Amino acid sequence: MWIQRLGRALGQGRRHLHAKIVKGTSIEVQPEPESGASSMTFPGVWLRDNCRCSECFHGTSQSRRLDWDTFDTAVRPLSIRSDKAAGEVHVSWSDAHESSYTLDWLRQRSFDADRQRAYLEDFYRPATRHWAGAEFQQVAQHFDYEEVMAKDAALQQWLQALAVYGVALLRGAPLDEGVVRRLAERVGFIRRTTYGEEFVVQAKPGAQNFAYLSLPLPLHTDLPYYEYKPSVNILHCVVQTESQGGSNLLVDAFHIADRLRSDHPEDFERLCRIPVDWNDIGSEDGREFHNIWRAPVICLDSEGKYTRINHSVPQRDSHFSVPLAEVEPWYESYSRFVRLARDDAHAFKTRPGDVLTFNNIRLLHGRTGYDDTEQNSRYIVGAYLDWDIIYSRLRVLKKRPAIQ
Ligand code: OGA
Ligand code: ZN
Ligand code: ZN
Repeated sequence: MWIQRLGRALGQGRRHLHAKIVKGTSIEVQPEPESGASSMTFPGVWLRDNCRCSECFHGTSQSRRLDWDTFDTAVRPLSIRSDKAAGEVHVSWSDAHESSYTLDWLRQRSFDADRQRAYLEDFYRPATRHWAGAEFQQVAQHFDYEEVMAKDAALQQWLQALAVYGVALLRGAPLDEGVVRRLAERVGFIRRTTYGEEFVVQAKPGAQNFAYLSLPLPLHTDLPYYEYKPSVNILHCVVQTESQGGSNLLVDAFHIADRLRSDHPEDFERLCRIPVDWNDIGSEDGREFHNIWRAPVICLDSEGKYTRINHSVPQRDSHFSVPLAEVEPWYESYSRFVRLARDDAHAFKTRPGDVLTFNNIRLLHGRTGYDDTEQNSRYIVGAYLDWDIIYSRLRVLKKRPAIQ
């Protein structure tokens, strides 16, 4: 949609285009002077840095090849000419270089705040919508596994829902152990961890991992003890227990963080600031590991938006490397977070052929306990995907016109 909007804008721009130098260093472009549409201002240094000629830009690799060892940040436009028929602006620079830019290219990179927001939310990463547990049925969308595997439009809808809500369910998958790999490879590739590429969650005698028991699994994020956390969980239900229990629990921890931020700002501040030592010690396939990563429960980016949530009772280290005075207040704040999350959790039971996918660095997940006997077992195959790979696939799909 974004691309189409820009395409239409280009068509209009061809007929009307006016450009001038402003303040000696910038260029102002007025695509439709008579329509009253606002003009766009581009700093000269940015335009020169982004010259598209073959000397400055390598088209095949879509990469800048400008020599930045000699680049002059004081470069100024000397003269400017707009070619209305071609919808292009030509600039002569103080470093004796000439550049041309199409109006379409310029509009897509406008410094206007609304346009930048639209680009970031439509194309960079879809804006997230946070939800309370009671809204689960409305936000958790269902997709047909075979359609996702066969049609790009369905693949895009699934990944978009996952990005926006942090959860989406695929139905109708076959009951073989290759489903999670085929699905991950439809997007990109599996993210490997200490526990392998695909992993089986079932009650195992002598289990080294808390999840591989039939006990209740309290809400958590997987692998908080990794700096580079796997970001999306794929859980394929192959066999579901007939007994009571074995349900999945899900909570949108971004929603819990929103509530803390507005109702308990001191708790919020502490959980954003105080680093926790997350850890995992054990061995898998005869190889020992000892993972530790220090990070707050709620991690924010430079704009105050959530980047990830870390939470796991079993996988929090007894080392707590913070000043003494922080310890007791942190416990109070963390227990408030845990209680709010527990009270908001939505429980539902997957059926054989369901593939539950969710954002591991946003949602908390858990499982109710179940009885495990030889006649009545539960068998879940899991794998992870990374957001880098998912967002990349989404952008490629959005650029391509829908064929199916
Ligand atoms: C896990 C886990 C969920 C389930 O293995 O980390 O969350 O449904 N399992 O068993
Ligand atoms: Zn150039
Ligand atoms: Zn888990």
